[in-house]
Amino acid sequence: MVSVEFTNVHKRYEDGFEAVKGLNLTVEDGEFLVLLGPSGCGKSTTLRMLAGLEEITDGTVTIGGVTVNHLPAGARGLGMVFQSYALYPHMSVRDNLTFGLRMAKGEDRLSDQAIAERVKEAASMLELEEHLDKKPKELSGGQRQRVALGRALIRRPKVLLMDEPLSNLDAELRHQMRNEIRRLHDELGTTTIYVTHDQIEAMTLADRVAILDQGVLQQHAPPLEAYQQPANDFVKSFLCRHLDDLVETANTLLRPSTKEEGA
Ligand SMILES: Nc1ncnc2c1ncn2[C@@H]1O[C@H](COP(=O)(O)OP(=O)(O)O)[C@@H](O)[C@H]1O
Ligand SMILES: [Mg+2]
Repeated sequence: MVSVEFTNVHKRYEDGFEAVKGLNLTVEDGEFLVLLGPSGCGKSTTLRMLAGLEEITDGTVTIGGVTVNHLPAGARGLGMVFQSYALYPHMSVRDNLTFGLRMAKGEDRLSDQAIAERVKEAASMLELEEHLDKKPKELSGGQRQRVALGRALIRRPKVLLMDEPLSNLDAELRHQMRNEIRRLHDELGTTTIYVTHDQIEAMTLADRVAILDQGVLQQHAPPLEAYQQPANDFVKSFLCRHLDDLVETANTLLRPSTKEEGA
């Protein structure tokens, strides 16, 4: 069981700013949770505390029932994918994928054969078979993002963390990768926490969304429930603002063809 639990978690930065205020949140084993909210609401801070990249000011974070507050990042068994996925430019795709595995020491160290098998599996899952010997600069943006995802997955993380991983991609690729990420999750069943400010991403990916505003959790529910029964005015306006945009866009797109039909 790899659930994740935040209990009364606070983050106060050195300048005194409180970015996360008393977060209580449970992510179930195998769940795909999306942390959703406007820019600056504390999503990345929350994820970074879980990852061990940011100190937890107060409260408790557990992974699989184990308190991790004082565990170093490398000992938490997490995989991470960020917006700026920073592959090693001088290394082949294969070496980028296996770097973490090759650096492992002691009993965590896999045999060369086991590593080769993991590469094969990851490459097939992410359609990278033909690109393993290429350098990142020879790849498209989408392929690079796949390598970043593969690099996280190849270590079989207990929990997969993603922070706005698709923000640098164009709309078409974003759509494609979104489907791919959900498909991979359904295949692997890895507990996943995905940060985005994009309501559409949240709606299409999440089992449940946790909606944050100014460091405070506003609602934790399946996406449809949040739409149909928003917990408060913030959630209502945050989710519906976007719906209004969609309706507006749809109307704009439909208008010319309506005219043509009428002509
Ligand atoms: N190192 C820091 N020192 C002080 N304030 C910070 C620091 N990092 C982030 N913040 C502030 O904390 C708030 C939450 O930031 P962040 O978690 O990055 O938001 P999000 O990822 O939701 O956009 C923002 O107001 C941001 O300016
Ligand atoms: Mg952020």
